[in-house]
Amino acid sequence: MADLIAPAQRPANPRFSSGPCAKIPGFSLDMLADAPLGRSHRAAVGKAKLKEAIDLTREILGVPADYRIGIVPASDTGAVEMALWSLLGARPVEMLAWESFGEGWVTDVVKQLKLDATVKKAAYGEIVDLATVDFDKDVVFTWNGTTSGVRVPNGDVIPANRAGLTICDATSAAFAMDLPWDKLDVVTFSWQKVLGGEGGHGVLILSPRAVERLESYTPAWPLPKIFRLTSKGKLIEGIFVGETINTPSMLCVEDYLVALKWAQTIGGLKGLIARSEANAKAIADFIAGKDWIANLAADPATASCTSVCLKFTDPRIVDGAAFAKNVAKRLEKAGVALDAGAYRDAPPGLRIWCGATVEQADVAALMPWIEYAFNAEIAALTEAA
Ligand SMILES: Cc1ncc(COP(=O)(O)O)c(C=O)c1O
Repeated sequence: MADLIAPAQRPANPRFSSGPCAKIPGFSLDMLADAPLGRSHRAAVGKAKLKEAIDLTREILGVPADYRIGIVPASDTGAVEMALWSLLGARPVEMLAWESFGEGWVTDVVKQLKLDATVKKAAYGEIVDLATVDFDKDVVFTWNGTTSGVRVPNGDVIPANRAGLTICDATSAAFAMDLPWDKLDVVTFSWQKVLGGEGGHGVLILSPRAVERLESYTPAWPLPKIFRLTSKGKLIEGIFVGETINTPSMLCVEDYLVALKWAQTIGGLKGLIARSEANAKAIADFIAGKDWIANLAADPATASCTSVCLKFTDPRIVDGAAFAKNVAKRLEKAGVALDAGAYRDAPPGLRIWCGATVEQADVAALMPWIEYAFNAEIAALTEAA
Protein backbone atom coordinates (compact mmCIF):
# COMPACT_ATOMS: atom_id res chain seq x y z
CA MET A 1 0.00 0.00 0.00
CA ALA A 2 1.38 3.38 -0.93
CA ASP A 3 2.46 5.73 1.79
CA LEU A 4 -0.38 8.19 2.34
CA ILE A 5 1.36 10.66 4.62
CA ALA A 6 1.01 14.19 3.28
CA PRO A 7 4.33 15.79 2.26
CA ALA A 8 5.82 18.09 4.90
CA GLN A 9 6.67 20.90 2.49
CA ARG A 10 4.11 22.98 0.62
CA PRO A 11 4.54 25.41 -2.26
CA ALA A 12 4.72 28.93 -0.82
CA ASN A 13 2.51 30.05 -3.73
CA PRO A 14 -0.06 27.49 -4.94
CA ARG A 15 -1.02 29.50 -8.05
CA PHE A 16 -0.32 27.25 -11.03
CA SER A 17 -3.15 28.46 -13.29
CA SER A 18 -2.36 28.73 -16.99
CA GLY A 19 -4.04 32.09 -17.25
CA PRO A 20 -4.39 34.43 -15.60
CA CYS A 21 -1.05 33.22 -14.25
CA ALA A 22 0.77 33.91 -10.98
CA LYS A 23 1.74 37.53 -10.42
CA ILE A 24 5.43 38.42 -10.27
CA PRO A 25 7.23 37.32 -7.09
CA GLY A 26 6.56 39.72 -4.23
CA PHE A 27 3.67 41.40 -6.03
CA SER A 28 1.45 43.78 -4.09
CA LEU A 29 -1.20 46.25 -5.21
CA ASP A 30 0.95 49.07 -3.79
CA MET A 31 3.24 48.54 -6.78
CA LEU A 32 0.53 50.06 -8.99
CA ALA A 33 0.47 53.38 -7.12
CA ASP A 34 1.91 55.24 -10.13
CA ALA A 35 -1.06 54.37 -12.38
CA PRO A 36 -2.60 57.58 -13.77
CA LEU A 37 -6.10 56.68 -12.61
CA GLY A 38 -8.93 59.03 -13.41
CA ARG A 39 -6.91 60.59 -16.22
CA SER A 40 -7.47 60.32 -19.94
CA HIS A 41 -5.39 57.68 -21.68
CA ARG A 42 -4.97 60.33 -24.39
CA ALA A 43 -3.44 62.84 -21.95
CA ALA A 44 0.36 63.06 -22.09
CA VAL A 45 0.72 61.00 -18.91
CA GLY A 46 -1.46 58.16 -20.25
CA LYS A 47 0.15 58.14 -23.69
CA ALA A 48 3.60 58.07 -22.11
CA LYS A 49 2.68 54.98 -20.08
CA LEU A 50 1.31 53.21 -23.16
CA LYS A 51 4.39 54.11 -25.18
CA GLU A 52 6.66 52.91 -22.37
CA ALA A 53 4.79 49.58 -22.37
CA ILE A 54 5.40 49.27 -26.12
CA ASP A 55 9.06 50.29 -25.83
CA LEU A 56 9.79 47.86 -22.98
CA THR A 57 7.98 45.07 -24.83
CA ARG A 58 10.28 45.71 -27.80
CA GLU A 59 13.39 45.84 -25.62
CA ILE A 60 12.69 42.68 -23.63
CA LEU A 61 11.38 40.54 -26.50
CA GLY A 62 14.06 41.80 -28.90
CA VAL A 63 11.48 42.85 -31.49
CA PRO A 64 13.22 44.39 -34.54
CA ALA A 65 13.01 48.16 -34.84
CA ASP A 66 11.03 47.97 -38.09
CA TYR A 67 8.26 45.80 -36.59
CA ARG A 68 5.18 47.62 -35.21
CA ILE A 69 3.88 46.82 -31.72
CA GLY A 70 0.31 47.78 -30.82
CA ILE A 71 -1.83 47.43 -27.71
CA VAL A 72 -5.27 46.30 -28.86
CA PRO A 73 -8.67 45.42 -27.37
CA ALA A 74 -9.97 42.00 -26.33
CA SER A 75 -6.81 40.31 -25.16
CA ASP A 76 -5.01 37.75 -27.31
CA THR A 77 -8.26 36.74 -28.99
CA GLY A 78 -8.76 40.34 -30.10
CA ALA A 79 -5.23 40.56 -31.45
CA VAL A 80 -5.46 37.27 -33.38
CA GLU A 81 -8.89 37.99 -34.84
CA MET A 82 -7.86 41.51 -35.83
CA ALA A 83 -5.01 39.96 -37.81
CA LEU A 84 -7.16 37.23 -39.38
CA TRP A 85 -9.93 39.60 -40.42
CA SER A 86 -7.53 42.30 -41.67
CA LEU A 87 -4.95 40.20 -43.52
CA LEU A 88 -6.48 36.98 -44.81
CA GLY A 89 -8.16 36.45 -48.15
CA ALA A 90 -5.39 37.89 -50.29
CA ARG A 91 -3.79 34.51 -50.99
CA PRO A 92 -4.33 30.81 -50.09
CA VAL A 93 -4.33 29.98 -46.39
CA GLU A 94 -3.00 27.06 -44.37
CA MET A 95 -4.33 26.63 -40.82
CA LEU A 96 -2.36 24.56 -38.30
CA ALA A 97 -3.94 23.40 -35.05
CA TRP A 98 -2.78 21.18 -32.21
CA GLU A 99 -5.16 22.12 -29.45
CA SER A 100 -8.25 24.06 -28.56
CA PHE A 101 -7.16 27.64 -29.28
CA GLY A 102 -5.66 26.77 -32.65
CA GLU A 103 -8.91 24.98 -33.46
CA GLY A 104 -10.74 28.17 -32.58
CA TRP A 105 -8.74 30.03 -35.24
CA VAL A 106 -9.63 27.30 -37.75
CA THR A 107 -13.32 27.88 -36.97
CA ASP A 108 -12.84 31.62 -37.46
CA VAL A 109 -11.24 31.23 -40.85
CA VAL A 110 -13.26 28.34 -42.27
CA LYS A 111 -16.70 28.92 -40.77
CA GLN A 112 -16.79 32.69 -40.22
CA LEU A 113 -14.55 34.11 -42.95
CA LYS A 114 -15.54 31.12 -45.13
CA LEU A 115 -12.10 30.80 -46.66
CA ASP A 116 -11.22 27.58 -48.43
CA ALA A 117 -8.17 26.98 -46.23
CA THR A 118 -6.01 23.88 -46.03
CA VAL A 119 -6.40 22.66 -42.45
CA LYS A 120 -3.75 20.52 -40.76
CA LYS A 121 -4.41 19.23 -37.28
CA ALA A 122 -2.38 17.18 -34.83
CA ALA A 123 -3.72 15.28 -31.84
CA TYR A 124 -3.26 16.65 -28.33
CA GLY A 125 0.37 16.15 -27.35
CA GLU A 126 1.69 16.42 -30.91
CA ILE A 127 2.29 19.18 -33.44
CA VAL A 128 1.85 19.29 -37.20
CA ASP A 129 4.99 18.41 -39.15
CA LEU A 130 6.09 21.90 -40.21
CA ALA A 131 8.13 20.44 -43.07
CA THR A 132 4.80 19.65 -44.82
CA VAL A 133 3.59 23.26 -44.63
CA ASP A 134 3.49 25.50 -47.68
CA PHE A 135 4.82 28.85 -46.48
CA ASP A 136 3.95 30.49 -49.77
CA LYS A 137 0.43 30.46 -48.36
CA ASP A 138 -0.55 32.53 -45.34
CA VAL A 139 0.00 30.21 -42.38
CA VAL A 140 -1.80 30.59 -39.05
CA PHE A 141 -0.53 28.66 -36.03
CA THR A 142 -0.07 28.71 -32.27
CA TRP A 143 3.54 28.71 -31.05
CA ASN A 144 2.74 27.06 -27.74
CA GLY A 145 -0.39 24.99 -27.30
CA THR A 146 -1.51 26.13 -23.88
CA THR A 147 -4.03 23.32 -23.54
CA SER A 148 -1.83 20.53 -24.90
CA GLY A 149 1.61 21.43 -23.53
CA VAL A 150 3.40 21.30 -26.88
CA ARG A 151 5.33 23.99 -28.70
CA VAL A 152 7.08 24.66 -31.95
CA PRO A 153 10.75 23.88 -31.15
CA ASN A 154 12.13 26.60 -33.45
CA GLY A 155 11.40 28.39 -36.69
CA ASP A 156 14.12 26.74 -38.78
CA VAL A 157 11.76 25.24 -41.37
CA ILE A 158 10.04 28.56 -42.05
CA PRO A 159 11.74 29.98 -45.16
CA ALA A 160 13.13 33.50 -44.85
CA ASN A 161 11.95 34.23 -48.40
CA ARG A 162 8.38 32.90 -48.00
CA ALA A 163 5.64 34.49 -50.10
CA GLY A 164 2.94 34.06 -47.47
CA LEU A 165 2.57 35.65 -44.07
CA THR A 166 3.13 33.69 -40.87
CA ILE A 167 0.51 34.60 -38.26
CA CYS A 168 1.50 33.26 -34.86
CA ASP A 169 -0.54 33.17 -31.67
CA ALA A 170 2.26 33.31 -29.10
CA THR A 171 0.25 34.06 -26.02
CA SER A 172 1.74 31.36 -23.82
CA ALA A 173 5.15 31.54 -25.52
CA ALA A 174 6.06 35.25 -25.47
CA PHE A 175 8.51 36.04 -22.65
CA ALA A 176 9.30 32.34 -22.11
CA MET A 177 10.54 31.11 -25.48
CA ASP A 178 12.77 32.47 -28.23
CA LEU A 179 10.62 33.74 -31.07
CA PRO A 180 12.45 33.99 -34.43
CA TRP A 181 11.26 37.42 -35.53
CA ASP A 182 12.57 37.10 -39.07
CA LYS A 183 10.29 34.08 -39.54
CA LEU A 184 7.17 35.67 -38.04
CA ASP A 185 4.99 38.35 -39.65
CA VAL A 186 2.29 38.61 -37.00
CA VAL A 187 2.79 37.76 -33.35
CA THR A 188 0.10 38.13 -30.73
CA PHE A 189 -0.10 37.66 -26.98
CA SER A 190 -1.91 38.87 -23.92
CA TRP A 191 -0.53 40.11 -20.64
CA GLN A 192 -1.95 37.54 -18.26
CA LYS A 193 0.40 34.71 -19.16
CA VAL A 194 4.17 34.61 -18.70
CA LEU A 195 4.41 38.00 -17.01
CA GLY A 196 1.41 37.40 -14.76
CA GLY A 197 -0.35 40.53 -16.04
CA GLU A 198 -4.06 41.23 -16.27
CA GLY A 199 -6.63 40.11 -18.86
CA GLY A 200 -8.38 42.31 -21.39
CA HIS A 201 -5.51 43.72 -23.45
CA GLY A 202 -3.80 42.18 -26.42
CA VAL A 203 -0.50 42.89 -28.11
CA LEU A 204 -0.26 42.76 -31.90
CA ILE A 205 3.18 42.76 -33.51
CA LEU A 206 3.47 43.28 -37.27
CA SER A 207 6.41 42.75 -39.60
CA PRO A 208 7.01 45.20 -42.47
CA ARG A 209 5.54 42.55 -44.83
CA ALA A 210 2.35 42.38 -42.75
CA VAL A 211 2.08 46.18 -42.93
CA GLU A 212 2.63 46.04 -46.68
CA ARG A 213 -0.29 43.58 -46.95
CA LEU A 214 -2.49 45.83 -44.82
CA GLU A 215 -1.76 48.79 -47.06
CA SER A 216 -2.18 46.94 -50.36
CA TYR A 217 -5.18 44.71 -49.70
CA THR A 218 -8.76 45.38 -48.61
CA PRO A 219 -10.69 42.35 -47.36
CA ALA A 220 -14.04 41.52 -48.95
CA TRP A 221 -15.83 41.57 -45.60
CA PRO A 222 -16.69 44.52 -43.36
CA LEU A 223 -14.42 45.31 -40.39
CA PRO A 224 -15.77 46.64 -37.09
CA LYS A 225 -14.02 49.68 -35.67
CA ILE A 226 -12.03 47.68 -33.11
CA PHE A 227 -10.45 45.61 -35.93
CA ARG A 228 -9.51 48.52 -38.17
CA LEU A 229 -5.76 48.97 -38.53
CA THR A 230 -5.82 51.19 -41.61
CA SER A 231 -7.48 54.39 -42.68
CA LYS A 232 -7.72 55.35 -46.35
CA GLY A 233 -5.37 52.51 -47.25
CA LYS A 234 -2.64 53.60 -44.82
CA LEU A 235 -1.63 51.99 -41.54
CA ILE A 236 -2.94 53.92 -38.53
CA GLU A 237 0.54 54.51 -37.09
CA GLY A 238 -0.85 55.99 -33.88
CA ILE A 239 -1.98 52.55 -32.69
CA PHE A 240 1.68 51.52 -32.62
CA VAL A 241 2.87 54.38 -30.43
CA GLY A 242 0.18 54.08 -27.78
CA GLU A 243 -2.84 55.80 -29.31
CA THR A 244 -5.10 52.86 -28.67
CA ILE A 245 -8.27 52.25 -30.73
CA ASN A 246 -10.44 52.48 -27.64
CA THR A 247 -9.96 52.95 -23.89
CA PRO A 248 -7.44 50.68 -22.14
CA SER A 249 -7.29 50.12 -18.38
CA MET A 250 -4.45 52.27 -17.12
CA LEU A 251 -4.35 50.06 -14.01
CA CYS A 252 -3.64 47.04 -16.21
CA VAL A 253 -1.06 49.04 -18.19
CA GLU A 254 0.71 49.96 -14.93
CA ASP A 255 0.62 46.35 -13.85
CA TYR A 256 2.17 45.28 -17.18
CA LEU A 257 4.87 47.95 -16.77
CA VAL A 258 5.68 46.68 -13.27
CA ALA A 259 6.03 43.15 -14.66
CA LEU A 260 8.21 44.31 -17.56
CA LYS A 261 10.49 46.16 -15.14
CA TRP A 262 10.72 43.06 -12.96
CA ALA A 263 11.71 41.14 -16.10
CA GLN A 264 14.55 43.60 -16.63
CA THR A 265 15.86 42.92 -13.11
CA ILE A 266 16.11 39.17 -13.69
CA GLY A 267 18.08 39.42 -16.92
CA GLY A 268 15.38 40.18 -19.48
CA LEU A 269 14.27 37.52 -21.93
CA LYS A 270 17.19 35.23 -21.10
CA GLY A 271 16.32 35.33 -17.42
CA LEU A 272 12.64 34.77 -18.10
CA ILE A 273 13.34 31.77 -20.34
CA ALA A 274 15.76 30.32 -17.80
CA ARG A 275 13.17 30.54 -15.03
CA SER A 276 10.49 28.89 -17.15
CA GLU A 277 12.80 26.12 -18.36
CA ALA A 278 13.94 25.45 -14.78
CA ASN A 279 10.33 25.12 -13.68
CA ALA A 280 9.52 22.68 -16.46
CA LYS A 281 12.69 20.74 -15.64
CA ALA A 282 11.56 20.29 -12.04
CA ILE A 283 8.52 18.46 -13.43
CA ALA A 284 10.49 16.51 -16.05
CA ASP A 285 12.92 15.34 -13.35
CA PHE A 286 10.06 14.27 -11.12
CA ILE A 287 8.17 12.24 -13.73
CA ALA A 288 11.30 10.65 -15.21
CA GLY A 289 11.21 6.89 -14.61
CA LYS A 290 7.68 6.91 -13.11
CA ASP A 291 5.21 4.58 -14.78
CA TRP A 292 2.04 6.25 -13.50
CA ILE A 293 2.49 9.73 -14.87
CA ALA A 294 3.83 11.15 -18.14
CA ASN A 295 4.07 14.33 -20.13
CA LEU A 296 1.23 14.72 -22.65
CA ALA A 297 3.84 15.96 -25.15
CA ALA A 298 4.82 12.88 -27.16
CA ASP A 299 8.24 14.24 -28.14
CA PRO A 300 10.42 15.96 -25.51
CA ALA A 301 11.67 18.32 -28.26
CA THR A 302 8.19 19.83 -28.47
CA ALA A 303 7.37 19.77 -24.73
CA SER A 304 6.32 23.19 -23.48
CA CYS A 305 8.27 25.04 -20.80
CA THR A 306 5.19 27.04 -19.78
CA SER A 307 2.00 24.98 -19.87
CA VAL A 308 3.21 21.56 -18.78
CA CYS A 309 0.44 19.00 -19.34
CA LEU A 310 0.59 15.66 -17.55
CA LYS A 311 -1.44 12.49 -17.98
CA PHE A 312 -1.93 9.57 -15.60
CA THR A 313 -0.86 6.28 -17.13
CA ASP A 314 -1.63 3.77 -14.37
CA PRO A 315 -3.59 0.80 -15.81
CA ARG A 316 -5.73 0.60 -12.64
CA ILE A 317 -7.46 3.86 -13.64
CA VAL A 318 -10.81 3.14 -15.30
CA ASP A 319 -12.43 6.55 -15.67
CA GLY A 320 -9.51 8.79 -16.60
CA ALA A 321 -11.49 12.03 -16.56
CA ALA A 322 -13.01 11.45 -13.11
CA PHE A 323 -9.64 10.31 -11.73
CA ALA A 324 -7.74 13.35 -12.96
CA LYS A 325 -10.48 15.70 -11.77
CA ASN A 326 -10.37 14.15 -8.31
CA VAL A 327 -6.59 14.50 -8.13
CA ALA A 328 -6.86 18.17 -9.11
CA LYS A 329 -9.60 18.64 -6.51
CA ARG A 330 -7.43 17.11 -3.80
CA LEU A 331 -4.54 19.41 -4.71
CA GLU A 332 -6.84 22.40 -4.62
CA LYS A 333 -8.44 21.37 -1.31
CA ALA A 334 -5.01 20.90 0.23
CA GLY A 335 -4.20 24.42 -0.96
CA VAL A 336 -1.07 23.28 -2.81
CA ALA A 337 -2.15 23.79 -6.43
CA LEU A 338 -5.00 25.99 -7.61
CA ASP A 339 -6.48 25.58 -11.11
CA ALA A 340 -4.18 22.67 -12.00
CA GLY A 341 -6.73 20.51 -13.82
CA ALA A 342 -6.36 19.92 -17.57
CA TYR A 343 -8.25 22.30 -19.89
CA ARG A 344 -11.88 21.30 -20.44
CA ASP A 345 -11.38 20.16 -24.06
CA ALA A 346 -8.00 18.49 -23.47
CA PRO A 347 -7.31 14.87 -22.51
CA PRO A 348 -7.73 14.26 -18.75
CA GLY A 349 -4.77 15.13 -16.58
CA LEU A 350 -3.07 18.03 -14.86
CA ARG A 351 -1.68 21.26 -16.27
CA ILE A 352 0.97 23.00 -14.25
CA TRP A 353 1.90 26.51 -15.35
CA CYS A 354 5.65 26.93 -15.35
CA GLY A 355 6.01 30.48 -16.70
CA ALA A 356 8.61 32.88 -15.38
CA THR A 357 6.55 34.26 -12.49
CA VAL A 358 6.37 30.82 -10.88
CA GLU A 359 9.18 29.87 -8.48
CA GLN A 360 11.06 26.64 -9.13
CA ALA A 361 10.96 25.81 -5.41
CA ASP A 362 7.17 25.89 -5.57
CA VAL A 363 7.03 23.56 -8.56
CA ALA A 364 9.44 21.20 -6.81
CA ALA A 365 7.41 21.33 -3.60
CA LEU A 366 4.24 20.50 -5.53
CA MET A 367 5.59 17.29 -7.05
CA PRO A 368 5.35 15.06 -3.93
CA TRP A 369 1.83 16.38 -3.45
CA ILE A 370 0.87 15.12 -6.91
CA GLU A 371 2.20 11.69 -5.95
CA TYR A 372 0.35 11.88 -2.65
CA ALA A 373 -2.95 12.88 -4.31
CA PHE A 374 -2.47 10.20 -6.98
CA ASN A 375 -1.91 7.51 -4.34
CA ALA A 376 -4.90 8.70 -2.34
CA GLU A 377 -7.12 8.43 -5.43
CA ILE A 378 -5.78 4.97 -6.28
CA ALA A 379 -6.47 3.93 -2.67
CA ALA A 380 -10.02 5.29 -2.99
CA LEU A 381 -10.50 3.23 -6.19
CA THR A 382 -9.25 0.09 -4.48
CA GLU A 383 -11.53 0.66 -1.48
CA ALA A 384 -14.53 1.20 -3.74
CA ALA A 385 -13.83 -2.01 -5.67
C1 LIG B 1 -2.77 29.80 -27.16
C2 LIG B 1 -3.86 30.70 -26.69
N1 LIG B 1 -4.50 31.46 -27.57
C3 LIG B 1 -5.47 32.31 -27.19
C4 LIG B 1 -5.87 32.40 -25.88
C5 LIG B 1 -6.96 33.35 -25.51
O1 LIG B 1 -6.38 34.38 -24.85
P1 LIG B 1 -7.19 35.62 -24.28
O2 LIG B 1 -8.12 35.06 -23.25
O3 LIG B 1 -6.10 36.49 -23.73
O4 LIG B 1 -7.93 36.24 -25.40
C6 LIG B 1 -5.24 31.64 -24.91
C7 LIG B 1 -5.65 31.70 -23.51
O5 LIG B 1 -5.32 30.88 -22.68
C8 LIG B 1 -4.21 30.77 -25.33
O6 LIG B 1 -3.58 30.03 -24.44
